[in-house]
Amino acid sequence: MALPLVLLTHPLPPEWISTLQGRVRLLVGPAEPPGFAPHLLEYLGEAEGIFCLLTDKVDQALLEAAPRLRVVSNMAVGYDNIDIPACTRRRLPVGNTPGVLTDATADLAFALLLASARGLTKAALDARDGLWQTWSPIGWLGADLRGATLGLVGLGKIGKAVAERARGFGLNLLYTDSAPQPAAESALGVQYASFDQLLRTSDFVSLHCPLSAETRHLINAQTLRRMKKTSVLINTSRGAVVDTDALVNALREGWIAAAGLDVTDPEPLPPDHPLYDLPNCLIAPHIGSATHGARRHMAELACENLLAGLEGRPLPHCVNPELND
Ligand code: DGY
Repeated sequence: MALPLVLLTHPLPPEWISTLQGRVRLLVGPAEPPGFAPHLLEYLGEAEGIFCLLTDKVDQALLEAAPRLRVVSNMAVGYDNIDIPACTRRRLPVGNTPGVLTDATADLAFALLLASARGLTKAALDARDGLWQTWSPIGWLGADLRGATLGLVGLGKIGKAVAERARGFGLNLLYTDSAPQPAAESALGVQYASFDQLLRTSDFVSLHCPLSAETRHLINAQTLRRMKKTSVLINTSRGAVVDTDALVNALREGWIAAAGLDVTDPEPLPPDHPLYDLPNCLIAPHIGSATHGARRHMAELACENLLAGLEGRPLPHCVNPELND
């Protein structure tokens, strides 16, 4: 019997996807540009599985061109690149990769928080550019962490992992989510707050919510103006949770003090984007999960989801709620 055809949109190290060997026929896309390469699109009609990245759009049109598809496996925990209702209507399971990137992403959120609090980018550039003339008692002053308040928008796995790290730095912790989580409150010493309360009282606001219709531009001109002028915004979730133009104004005009972003909207930002000119904005190229271990585990989990879907078994991590019953 012929092996099922799987479209893998981006090349991956063979050892990360070794479980697919001998079980599927792989057609692999190029490293760039992102998305489904034309030579993959030609085979949509035959494909039984898709192994994709967060940069690949799986929408209704693509699904219609793939009548034999039995599973979509996304190598990411976020899945806003996929039309889930359209997949569910076809009873097409979609897999994601939660858990294995939690620590890596929380570490990066904390790295951005520390670097933004202490103005590390500017300080390092000043040193390199010869502006470090002497030890200055009033030079390169940053924010204190101990006793300050960190507000977590979203207390899922990554939000909780950031909370664990923050406790070690003596930060007070607030969180907001769709509902209070009493077990997490006692385990992590976090306190529930309304979104509004959290914005008004936090010295650091870190975003850990998925991108959805409700969270798109959750951070906008109005909500940025509610934050403290001394506060720092950290985003390791999805760029579009923040209204980019409003953030430019907020950082330029001092509505908030600084931002540390691992994700932007659009992604990537054009090199001449105004955010890159702002000394109080630190931007990383969506590297939250970019550790050797996390990325390998994400690929392995994506393989498990893919194989389960092809073999008609429940996916270890299936995101369509209606297909999980
Ligand atoms: C994810 O998996 O959704 C992350 O954004 C990847 O870094």
